[in-house]
Amino acid sequence: TPVSPQHAAKLGFSPVAKSLADVVALPEGYRYSVLYRLGDPIATGIAEYMNNGQDAPASYAFRGGDHHDGMHYFGLGPNGKHHKNESERGLLCLNHEAITPAYLHPNGPSIVNGVRTAADEVLREFYAHGVGIIETVRAGGEWTYDRSSRFNRRIHTLTEMDLSGPAARTPYMVTKYSPDGRRTRGTVNNCASGATPWGTYLTCEENWAGYFRRITAIDNPKRSAKELIALARYGVAGNGRELWATVTPDTPDNLYGRWNAMKLGSSPDGSDDYRNAPNTYGWVVEIDPFDPHATPKKRTALGRFAHEGAWLGPVRTGAPLVWYMGCDSRNEYIYKYVSNQPWNPADANDGLAAGDKYLDDGKLYVARFDADGSGQWIELRFGVGNITPANAAYPFADDADVVLHARLAADAAGATKMDRPEWGAVNPKNGEVYMALTNTNAASRPIGKLDAANPRFYNDRKTTGQNQLGNPNGHIIRFAEAGEDAGATSFKWDVFLFGARATADAANVNISGLTDANDFSSPDGLWFSQATGVLWIETDDGAYTDVTNCMLLAAVPGAVGDGAARTVVSTDEVTTRAVGTYVGKQLGEENLRRFLVGPKECEITGVAETPDGTALFINIQHPGEDTRPDFATGTFGSHWPDGGLSRPRSATIVVTRDDGGKIGI
Ligand code: FEO
Ligand code: CA
Ligand code: CA
Ligand code: CA
Repeated sequence: TPVSPQHAAKLGFSPVAKSLADVVALPEGYRYSVLYRLGDPIATGIAEYMNNGQDAPASYAFRGGDHHDGMHYFGLGPNGKHHKNESERGLLCLNHEAITPAYLHPNGPSIVNGVRTAADEVLREFYAHGVGIIETVRAGGEWTYDRSSRFNRRIHTLTEMDLSGPAARTPYMVTKYSPDGRRTRGTVNNCASGATPWGTYLTCEENWAGYFRRITAIDNPKRSAKELIALARYGVAGNGRELWATVTPDTPDNLYGRWNAMKLGSSPDGSDDYRNAPNTYGWVVEIDPFDPHATPKKRTALGRFAHEGAWLGPVRTGAPLVWYMGCDSRNEYIYKYVSNQPWNPADANDGLAAGDKYLDDGKLYVARFDADGSGQWIELRFGVGNITPANAAYPFADDADVVLHARLAADAAGATKMDRPEWGAVNPKNGEVYMALTNTNAASRPIGKLDAANPRFYNDRKTTGQNQLGNPNGHIIRFAEAGEDAGATSFKWDVFLFGARATADAANVNISGLTDANDFSSPDGLWFSQATGVLWIETDDGAYTDVTNCMLLAAVPGAVGDGAARTVVSTDEVTTRAVGTYVGKQLGEENLRRFLVGPKECEITGVAETPDGTALFINIQHPGEDTRPDFATGTFGSHWPDGGLSRPRSATIVVTRDDGGKIGI
């Protein structure tokens, strides 16, 4: 039986052509406005953004952050509470995943011999990461955000967070900042997101490992053998991508030094110990947007990995709540979390207390995709299967060790390594789950390591003649839980769509029959409209950018099993391998069309909509990030959105229809 009455209608717009222009291109009959840019003030008394690198560092605590990413719209009722069906006023929660440092400072970051020499610049970067909450309002058909709203809030790398669930208050979490392992500071690299049935926002920590400084050759010998295995598995190694730990002198509360994962109590009193700081990142973080004073909570029961997002499964009274999650790295896994408590709608206004009930007590599973088109969810629990102290690769000690090192537990469980799980989305019509596998390369998925769920290896030549070997255009996999029960431990799956150039080999590369109206590469964001049933697909494309900027497509999907089993012949032009797989029905231009193309060097991300389906919020992330800026002449990779010689800015846009109708149909 259908979970929800929404059925996708026909797509009702003409496809947008591929484009390399520095604009947002939309179908005829649609328009967009820029709602919220990097630097825009979210409190009264904060000056307009100068966008020249001179804005006061402390002011960034009250400005739009950088690299807008995952997003959710919560309807706001006149009583200041969550009103699910409110489409005129809402709290927009959005992630600020990362930064383009070049544009934040007068002439890019000040670095001498690998050391950050301007502490104020680093402070600006601390604030430019994290999450933003803004009150958005539609008046006279135009969307704005209310600068003076009491709900406006920035959460960033300095914000105090509570830890909860199995890993909280354990020795793994002890730092100088929190000797009892109960708290940590900040969230970072918040990529995709999710929501709960009780109106809270879930922000997910993705590439957090890269922010820590840990030079393996000189790491402190106090590290145990187990710690070294875990740090290597999570990639906590290197200088730290923004070199935050190199600032001297440190502050008394170690704002810079805590990014040094080698800081193992070297002060005279041995108290500045931050060896465990990386353990306090990599989680799903719950934020109550309706309570601006609530302390965010890191929910450790959902596991620690490169968390892309957390997508809520179908919500049924009396049944467990389920969130689907991906770990976005090459050869990583797809997970789900199933609450032990059945959903009771009486909890819908309980804020973070509802989170304590449903998000701290549940089971964590990882997916195995079998060659016969079926799949299994394997529980990650201490003492079950190989997740024991006797496991040779990594001896597990307790429940906290399992959630903290979910990747190692998934290795022990024999889960299927995927081609970079990006976003997921759940079809409101039937509860089927879609996961974008954005791409991989020949080194990570050599032709000998193909499997039915990750079956392609080919040479995608750029128009410049450059070879791109492996699965550079990615695919989207989908699965249907057994018995339409999100808590089931088995499923059936197929490949919904393969990214490809329209001109690629139709038999084995352009398997989904893409044309000029809908060809794409590197699917990243996925999102089902609750109002129309349309599946929105966003791209983050390193492979196809010789032909087009990144884009948003709309699809009317079928269902798992509507295609057929077939064989894909993969080749690196020396070796050939035939891989059996299950492929969804070709959608054709009727059911898959390009809706939007973004400006230069951006990624399209962060889709959200009003409940009535008449406003679509989209994030334009990091326009112009690839071209080295020339500040003397004002030559940048993009000048979007402000034009002229301006520095580019990440921004949220709102797409509406000229006639006020639902988007996409
Ligand atoms: Fe931040 Fe996986 O994209
Ligand atoms: Ca992404
Ligand atoms: Ca991506
Ligand atoms: Ca990006």
